[in-house]
Amino acid sequence: MVNYTNKLGAEAYAKYGEVNPVPIGTTSAKASFTVDAKGQASVGPLFIMEKMTRGFNPATADWRYAMVMPGGTTAGLTGGPGSDAMTFCHDCHTGAEDADYLFFLPEEVRAR
Ligand code: HEC
Repeated sequence: MVNYTNKLGAEAYAKYGEVNPVPIGTTSAKASFTVDAKGQASVGPLFIMEKMTRGFNPATADWRYAMVMPGGTTAGLTGGPGSDAMTFCHDCHTGAEDADYLFFLPEEVRAR
C-alpha cells in the first residue's frame, strides 16, 4: 500500500490525524492493484481525495473524491460527472471523522 500526498498537505498528513482540518488544497492519491483468482496482479483504480475550499460540498467536509480507472477514464468526481457514484467513498471515510476523514496507513507500515 502506498499513499501519496502533495506538498501542501504533506506536513499535516505526516502527523497522522493531529491536524484537523488539513490545509485546503491537500491532495492525497492512493494507487491500488487487483489480484485475480490465478494470483495474477494487475493495476487497479487510482483513488484521489482533494480538500477543496470551504463550502464546496458540506456533505463531504469539502473533500472531492475521484476514482480513475486503469487506462485513464474517470469513474466519478464529487460535484462533477459520476458524483453519485462517489458517495460511497465518503460514507466509508466518515469512519475517520476525527482525522478530517483521512485513514492513513496502519501503524506498522508507516514510513518513519
Ligand atoms: C470500505 C471503506 C472505504 C471506501 C469505500 C473508500 N475508502 Fe479510501 N481508504 C479507506 C481506508 C481504510 C484507507 C486507509 C488505508 C489505505 O490507505 O489502504 C483509505 C485511504 C484512502 C486514501 C489515502 C488517504 C488516507 O485516507 O489516508 C485516499 C486518497 C482514498 N482512500 C480515496 C478514496 C476514494 C476516492 C474512494 C471512493 C472511490 C474511497 N477512498 C473509498 C477506506 C475506504
